[in-house]
Amino acid sequence: MVDKPIIQYGVEEAVRSGIHNVIIVTGRGKSALEDHFDISYEMETVLSSRGKTALVAASRSVSDLTDVSYIRQKEALGLGHAVLRAAELVGPEPFAVILPDDVIYSQTPCIQQLIDVYEKYDAPVLAVMEVPNDKISAYGVVDAEQVAENVYRIRDLVEKPKASEAPSNLAIIGRYVLTPDIFDSLRQTAPGAGSEIQLTDGIRHLLKSRPVYALKFEGTRYDAGDKLGFLKATVEFALRHETLGEEFRVYLKELAL
Ligand code: G1P
Repeated sequence: MVDKPIIQYGVEEAVRSGIHNVIIVTGRGKSALEDHFDISYEMETVLSSRGKTALVAASRSVSDLTDVSYIRQKEALGLGHAVLRAAELVGPEPFAVILPDDVIYSQTPCIQQLIDVYEKYDAPVLAVMEVPNDKISAYGVVDAEQVAENVYRIRDLVEKPKASEAPSNLAIIGRYVLTPDIFDSLRQTAPGAGSEIQLTDGIRHLLKSRPVYALKFEGTRYDAGDKLGFLKATVEFALRHETLGEEFRVYLKELAL
């Protein structure tokens, strides 16, 4: 977006939440992404020779952030299928899922907010937010009972319901803290909406064996998978940017005249 690829915002959110092992499920045409999190010696040498040490440090911090592994999803068979691809690498531990198209700006990283709820209830937690009825059919939607401020126990959930059939206006946003028993549920999940194996349906199966919670998180979410959402995210992150923000604000004001 402003000075880094969108996926880096997601990786940085994980790191700021104390997660240092990241698995990226990737596919055809995305190999540039794998290079991005490596140390680029060629680029560092050029930058250093030109005295651009700040840029060297910025490039280093990307690769120092975390240990990134990659697994490929050979066919686009759905989000549930993508998560299942990571089962071996995740192993027998709780883990977080971040859909990087959902960019979240918040005081406490969204994943950290979910981890706090996970630790309190010892159960999987999904991020949710209220969305207007005419947009609800683009999301997974929960039917839930409030149990604390902004925390809900999920009764049921459905992927991309018709607006008239949505159980509530609480839509799932791409942040989850899950437990490894989700993998068994996903193995038993048949293709659903869009003929894809849906994570929502896997979690629905998991509900039969354990409680699952939802957190209405604090923060602003941008749908960077949508053109207008991407533009809004870029402009707002640019306005907040340490070194560009002020100048960009002045520029936008001039434009508005
Ligand atoms: C995915 C999930 C959906 C969730 C959404 C959030 O859908 O399947 O449950 O509400 O992300 O962005 P997608 O946007 O990939 O269609």
